[in-house]
Amino acid sequence: MSHAGTAQQTAAPLLEIDGVTLQYKTSEHLVTATRNVSFQVYPSDRFVLLGPSGCGKSTLLKAIGGYLNPVAGSIRLKGREITEPGPDRMMVFQEFDQLLPWKTVRQNVEFALHASGRLRGAEMRERAEHYIAMVGLAKFIDSYPHTLSGGMKQRVSIARGMAMEPDVLLMDEPYAALDALTRRKMQDELLRLWDDTRFTVLFVTHSIEEAVRIGTRILLLSPHPGQVKAELNSIPESELGTASQSALEARINAMLFSH
Ligand SMILES: Nc1ncnc2c1ncn2[C@@H]1O[C@H](COP(=O)(O)OP(=O)(O)OP(=O)(O)O)[C@@H](O)[C@H]1O
Ligand SMILES: [Mg+2]
Repeated sequence: MSHAGTAQQTAAPLLEIDGVTLQYKTSEHLVTATRNVSFQVYPSDRFVLLGPSGCGKSTLLKAIGGYLNPVAGSIRLKGREITEPGPDRMMVFQEFDQLLPWKTVRQNVEFALHASGRLRGAEMRERAEHYIAMVGLAKFIDSYPHTLSGGMKQRVSIARGMAMEPDVLLMDEPYAALDALTRRKMQDELLRLWDDTRFTVLFVTHSIEEAVRIGTRILLLSPHPGQVKAELNSIPESELGTASQSALEARINAMLFSH
């Protein structure tokens, strides 16, 4: 199967996850969320983590975000070990309430740029306007979050993440709470944004269909504790809706449910 992205095999990996085991310590239990997980994300990959509920997808994203340190293995971004959160990794979550409710769309995006020290003044305003327009919300730039639909709020979160121009955009089931039609629209929109800027995205989902649509590469994780089952290339966008999409989905389905 051909690779849907660019000639990534020749470039250096952007993100290297090497033998990563992640655990939560509660007062009574030690929960192993992922065990010995390894994968590499290359520049401009749309890399999808796919697996059943509880297999550790969000935990992996949190660790890459720098909110949780591995008990074994290492996570490196551009060759440097990740030890804390940073503006080089922006996260978009599933929930619609990621925005500051007392700030407008513009102020939410500008606040991230300002607080991280990325940009100030006219440059900051222009950058915010650019990304808000890219997600189709130019008309709502002065609106407050509570006046927006769930899909629109997710677009603001995506604009805010992209405006930071991070090395990698981390998306944790960003469309899971949307209705099917809006979800599909947002997926297509993400692909169009990617066509424009070729940003690197690490996208978590438990939907096989979403993984095939969004991903250039797909990592399959086993149920709790998450371990790598397989890593595969997805199909090019032009083959969506053809027999190769159903064939790949059937193949992934079989792999996820095999023991
Ligand atoms: N804060 C926490 N304290 C203790 N255990 C946790 C915590 N967060 C998650 N876990 C456990 O770690 C495991 C992995 O959870 P995680 O949220 O990463 O799964 P997931 O793959 O994102 O699932 P979902 O698809 O439902 O979002 C689960 O067994 C979960 O119960
Ligand atoms: Mg999760």
